[in-house]
Amino acid sequence: MKIRKAVIPAAGFGTRFLPATKAQPKEMLSVVDKPLIQYSVEEAVQSGIESIAVITSRGKALMEDHFDGSPELEQFLEGKGKLDFLEEVRRISNLAEFCFIRQKKALGLGHAILMGEDYVGQEPFAALLPDDIFDCSPPCLKQLIDVYTEFKGTVIVLGRVNEEGTKKYGIVKPKQISEKVFQIEDMAEKPGPEKAFSDMGIFGRYVFHPDIFAAIKRTAPDQKGEIQITDAIKLLLETQPVYGYLFEGKRYDCGDKLGFIEATVELALKRPEFSQALQEFLKSLSIK
Ligand code: G1P
Repeated sequence: MKIRKAVIPAAGFGTRFLPATKAQPKEMLSVVDKPLIQYSVEEAVQSGIESIAVITSRGKALMEDHFDGSPELEQFLEGKGKLDFLEEVRRISNLAEFCFIRQKKALGLGHAILMGEDYVGQEPFAALLPDDIFDCSPPCLKQLIDVYTEFKGTVIVLGRVNEEGTKKYGIVKPKQISEKVFQIEDMAEKPGPEKAFSDMGIFGRYVFHPDIFAAIKRTAPDQKGEIQITDAIKLLLETQPVYGYLFEGKRYDCGDKLGFIEATVELALKRPEFSQALQEFLKSLSIK
């Protein structure tokens, strides 16, 4: 079955980015010249996704405007003959079908994904966490969708993490079944180095069997009162296989300020119009 739909949870407060996120959504902060969330949306579209539900919360309406048509701006750009910008602005609003669903309370990532249940229905679907930018060819989500199509079960993207990473990411207990595919035997949300099953962390791309919704509903909240998607997947793997996939490519963790800055610098270096001048600027800094 073709994976047509994606859910993008974007309801968090973005506290790690304060003060930048006091009045604007974290997902709208710009990496080079595109808002963070646009990277996930473009990756989804390049992976064959046709329809996207963004899970939002109060104060996040800018995201709706960004992916909507903007007749006044388009008219202005057309009048000024700025046709490249016009084309780009139109392209953004035609990327996919969008639907915006409010999560009324910050009850965790699992709960945010559950908000997409009516929209998704009974089909497998993708979830993309916009904090992660993947620079991969084929796109990271496409790689995961191919694994879902072959193994017909929920797939999560994995990457190697260091000790610090065991406090930042969900960690899996993997059983290798091919070079890059693992069957997941157990998992834990941010267990820390002592309790980590392995050095394999969960990054922000998933392809879910629709049974994940029933599993989320059975998941107890953690000590913070949040329903974690990792705990829900752990319940799911009691009744059906769940796979992990070691992706090929590069990932930027834009979930904190330093990762965001790193992504901005490296992605700008990859852009032909900035590459040369930015390299020269970086060399000119007398970094000791
Ligand atoms: C979430 C997930 C975690 C995963 C991480 C990937 O955590 O709960 O399992 O490893 O995304 O970025 P968050 O970053 O929302 O705290």
